[in-house]
Amino acid sequence: MIKKNIKFSIAIDGSSASGKTTGSKFIAKKFKFNLLSSGMLYRYLSYKIIKNDNKYNKKFIVNQSKSITLKKLENKKLYNPKVTKLASIIAKKKFIRNSLKQFQKNFIKKNKKVIIEGRDIGSVIMPSADLKIYFKCSIKEKAKRRLKEFKKINKKITLKEVEKALKSRDFSDKNRKESPLLFVKGAVLVDTTKLTIKQMQLKLVKLVKKKLFNKYGNI
Ligand code: C5P
Repeated sequence: MIKKNIKFSIAIDGSSASGKTTGSKFIAKKFKFNLLSSGMLYRYLSYKIIKNDNKYNKKFIVNQSKSITLKKLENKKLYNPKVTKLASIIAKKKFIRNSLKQFQKNFIKKNKKVIIEGRDIGSVIMPSADLKIYFKCSIKEKAKRRLKEFKKINKKITLKEVEKALKSRDFSDKNRKESPLLFVKGAVLVDTTKLTIKQMQLKLVKLVKKKLFNKYGNI
């Protein structure tokens, strides 16, 4: 639906389970953007460390980050709770963030219509993005939604456990020294607490269309 030669970038940030992945996937499909869920990069390194007997070695990790491909990020095991927990621990390390930056920069270079979601996209990875969105949602609602996802795959976990894990990850992501999750100036806040998926999608479509119009007029 959009002219082929446009260049447009969307940076999506927000806490865990705030709806940003669902929202990003929707925009990518609807407007034919190339999407990168940057959390998968951290999850991938975490998975590799665990798989290699908790090999926490700088050279090993840097080499692993150089061998990442989009295909490798499709692994379902990257959603394992242990992998998830370690991902947010290693995400505090500067050398890890730096080594994953390259992959993200290449992704931006290769694609004209790009959307990246994560924690530091509007602040560090794409500070000059055409549209920045910050997702938020109450912890209670987030835990309920995540629990539903776990139930679908028959994972035995309680609401309390889900809430605790989310809280701890959010705290770490917001309070770390390197590239913490923050609301950057110019970002649009989307609070999904009381929104249905349909309502969220409508909001996102409006936002993207408005910014596209501001940059390119009617397309
Ligand atoms: O988004 P997702 O839950 O897949 O991210 C997993 C973890 O990776 C987050 O909890 C966060 O610690 C880290 N992350 C990050 N910066 C990003 C994306 C994810 O630090 N841009």
